[in-house]
Amino acid sequence: MITIGIESSCDDTSIALVENGTRVISSLVSSQIEIHRRFGGVVPEVASRKHLEAILPLLRECLDAADVKLEEIGQIAVTSGPGLLGPLLVGLSTAKALAWYTGKPLIPVNHIEAHLTASFLAAGRAPEYPYLGLIVSGGHANLVLAEGPRQYRVLGQTVDDAPGELFDKVARHLKLGYPGGPIVQKTGETGNNKRYQLPRPMAGKGYTFSFSGLKTAVMRIVAHEGDNLDLPDLCASLQYAVSETFVEKVGLALKETGARRLILAGGVAANSVLRDSMQKLAKRYQAELLLPTLHLCTDNAAMIAAHGYFTAHLAPADSMLVNAVANWEMGAPYNF
Ligand code: KG4
Ligand code: ZN
Repeated sequence: MITIGIESSCDDTSIALVENGTRVISSLVSSQIEIHRRFGGVVPEVASRKHLEAILPLLRECLDAADVKLEEIGQIAVTSGPGLLGPLLVGLSTAKALAWYTGKPLIPVNHIEAHLTASFLAAGRAPEYPYLGLIVSGGHANLVLAEGPRQYRVLGQTVDDAPGELFDKVARHLKLGYPGGPIVQKTGETGNNKRYQLPRPMAGKGYTFSFSGLKTAVMRIVAHEGDNLDLPDLCASLQYAVSETFVEKVGLALKETGARRLILAGGVAANSVLRDSMQKLAKRYQAELLLPTLHLCTDNAAMIAAHGYFTAHLAPADSMLVNAVANWEMGAPYNF
């Protein structure tokens, strides 16, 4: 069974073909990062227009690269939320047209849920439950217990900024560029992570995250140090503070839930400091850690196809009427 995945929730247009939910046949991503860079963030209306330009040529390219015909596709999985409404509508409309034309089922997919499935796809495996999932991106810091397909118990989330947002804002403040996460990582590689004392936000406060205080703390150091500021040390100290925050809370969750499988997902899951600290944590609890490959960390349609494959039985029969929803919570019912 070949599932075609379509993703356009933010600034990446992506089309992929995945076999039986576990093998990527072809996966293409058209990034708009260069266009949005000069604005320091994604401009929704610009993103919608770029998706519209990119999506049909990308679809053609994806089928041609894999030498797969439209008739060979068994079902169509598409991100219908959460994300930017205009960009989402481009992908969803394309998917509906494809489903109508081919007569094949349409499976609406929750983008955040799909990020978790990406780690299983990277391992060529079907999702296994239960597992603890930590989703860290430009918009999310969610710690969930996944109990079955589309069944999640949200243990904690951020009360303000997400970690990717923190990296992006700090990088912008320091005039390092956009997106901030990879630049902060690169800059911090040679730094001393104990040089600058930064707070551990919400330490000892259960599963709740907060990252805006860290941003303020960094800005205070920048103002205080002036020309003496050591950028690599600051970037290393910041990543250390963020990863230690996750170590504390994920450690608590491993202890309290008894889960022995841990999944790291989302754009910030590409961060090497966080990956290393999660690896050590999993080892300490004798838990299995599944990490997405770097390609599957960032937004991609392969994870949408895989998640669609494993949740197809839950999709409503009248899925052609499903709407794009900007804030569709993971595990929540499909939206009409
Ligand atoms: O999941 P994603 O591609 O998009 C959404 O936010 O949904 O995540 C993008 C975020 C950005 O904030 C970016 O700065 C961050 O992920 N990011 C990283 C790294 N690569 C991307 N953060 C830290 N270290 C990285 N290597
Ligand atoms: Zn994403």
